[in-house]
Amino acid sequence: MRLNIAMDGPVGAGKSSIADAAAKRLGILHLDTGAMYRALGLKALREGMDLQDEEKMVELCRGLNLAVRVGAGGQETLLDGEDVSSLIRTPEVSMAASTVSRYAQVRRRMVQLQQALAAEQDMILDGRDICTTVLPDAPVKIYLTATAEERAKRRWLEMKEKGEKDTYEEVLAQVRARDEQDMNRPVEPLRQAEDAVLLDTTDLSFDQVVDRITALAEEARRKG
Ligand code: DC
Repeated sequence: MRLNIAMDGPVGAGKSSIADAAAKRLGILHLDTGAMYRALGLKALREGMDLQDEEKMVELCRGLNLAVRVGAGGQETLLDGEDVSSLIRTPEVSMAASTVSRYAQVRRRMVQLQQALAAEQDMILDGRDICTTVLPDAPVKIYLTATAEERAKRRWLEMKEKGEKDTYEEVLAQVRARDEQDMNRPVEPLRQAEDAVLLDTTDLSFDQVVDRITALAEEARRKG
């Protein structure tokens, strides 16, 4: 059986770095699905388009020249052939990604691309709807979370290291705004799948979380 690990959770729960570490340990790949919505958000911002215009966003998504390369060395997200992996990490693109991800037809296209990638390889996918929509039959399903304050603190420390000037209060407000948008959108809002394992990382170390995920995956491998 294909070893796909589905992982959802709110912004700043550490999904991406945790998934990277777990994938390395398990010798499988990691697909960061948020990068795909980010690439669309970046394209819309570059074109100066109105992100609230659903029809335009769906049209833009249909014609999007997006390629995702996942390898043992990590993920490259290519927009119109350009590697935009770092450019899609700004707060502006984060919010744009959250906005364009509200549209049902945008989601449909992204979900199809993700399912096609997951069918080809053993991988861990992280996002907002992986357990609920993309891979509801994945052998391992995880909901990774932590309090908004803890998530904002982690993100703020990360940003500070990169020399960014946002205050903790600003980062907390951004985290709350994205939670609000991701959890309350009408189409496939972020929620914990009934059969997903809840991992609240507020009081867990990075390694404890990775240990837990790899243990779940090893168990699924034995059963599979
Ligand atoms: O995981 P991230 O912060 O890179 O995701 C950026 C935005 O994309 C997020 O605010 C919501 C959206 N997203 C989504 O709706 N579904 C996914 N599977 C991944 C991300």
